Amino acid sequence: MQDVTETPFDPRRDSLLVKAARGQTTSRTPVWFMRQAGRSLPEYRAVREGTAMLEACRNPELVTEITLQPVRRHGVDAAIFFSDIVVPLAAVGVDLDIVPGTGPVVAAPFRTRADLDRLPDLTPEHVGDITKSVQMLVRELGPTPLIGFAGAPFTLASYLVEGGPSRNHEHTKALMHGDPQLWHDLCARLAQISGAFLRVQVDAGASAVQLFDSWAGALSRADYRTHVQEHSRAAFAALDGLDVPRIHFGVGTGELLTDMSEVGTDVVGVDYRVALPDAIARLGGRFAVQGNLDPALLFAPWEPLEQAVRRIVAEGRTAPGHIFNLGHGVLPSTDPDVLTRVVALVHEVSER
Ligand code: CP3
Repeated sequence: MQDVTETPFDPRRDSLLVKAARGQTTSRTPVWFMRQAGRSLPEYRAVREGTAMLEACRNPELVTEITLQPVRRHGVDAAIFFSDIVVPLAAVGVDLDIVPGTGPVVAAPFRTRADLDRLPDLTPEHVGDITKSVQMLVRELGPTPLIGFAGAPFTLASYLVEGGPSRNHEHTKALMHGDPQLWHDLCARLAQISGAFLRVQVDAGASAVQLFDSWAGALSRADYRTHVQEHSRAAFAALDGLDVPRIHFGVGTGELLTDMSEVGTDVVGVDYRVALPDAIARLGGRFAVQGNLDPALLFAPWEPLEQAVRRIVAEGRTAPGHIFNLGHGVLPSTDPDVLTRVVALVHEVSER
């Protein structure tokens, strides 16, 4: 007879992603890819035809379809919400666009105290469509967990202060050091916006969250600790009391891994420049890790790629938990069949 007290599968508790993030034993290593939804998929290019990026991000039917595409095609163990780190900024009224091939471009860069007036707090009412999208998605995804995300204050501040993508972040660092009080006030505002955006996604049913501090690797440890760390901590603190695992990721952050682990995260994302065993050692074996296949290796012949995947799966076993991922996002010209093959390989070789 069936045990009637058996509770139904809940991705927030029972999925491989959530269990690995919490350092619990899993039957195999979960795998998903940063930027798994996007230009590498022909079905993505087809549905995006004629719709601007920011417009697509605010359309629940389109967001749901695009988020599901890589889950259907690759059989990944998690979906990541299709949106962008600048969506909450646009939602509170910042005049910006996402320019194809370039990235976010802000009409008027933030440089003075008066600019703070253009950055009101984010309330759930600003992003009612996001709540709707997440709710639709969670229904469609069933047992597959949905990862919500936001940009961390430093990375968002860089786009606002520079006015767009930046190699050297010179205006951002000039503000940080030239007017530390204004810098802190700006980042505190951004932490509120990011934190509220994460909370909206979790309240609507997301199973985990990732905070992207993509450009934090441009900072010295001293700058990170003095000018950035507390604001990332504040963004995550908006989730206090909600029982969802947190992932924290940045590019080129090998030197900052321990600092980035101190902001209230469960999982530390490792980029492809740092060997996983080194990252695990730096973190003192106290954190689950996510990563870290070099996205460019997806262009290599299968043999070396397979070796790298097998090595990363084996290395991940020495951490309290491991979520297989790339060391940064899928490149747009990646052959999607290679991604599908990598998922199957991770599943096969990590089976216990
Ligand atoms: O699959 C997923 O990962 C979910 C979707 C996602 C997008 N952006 C979709 C997107 C996520 C998680 C992001 C986060 C994001 N956006 C980050 C942090 C992640 C990282 O890569 O470090 C950053 C820095 C941004 C800012 C941004 N938005 C950039 C640099 C770009 C690329 C510009 C380009 O055209 O090359 C964007 C646009 C963007 N965001 C696209 C997608 C699918 C491409 C737009 C398109 O398809 O036309």
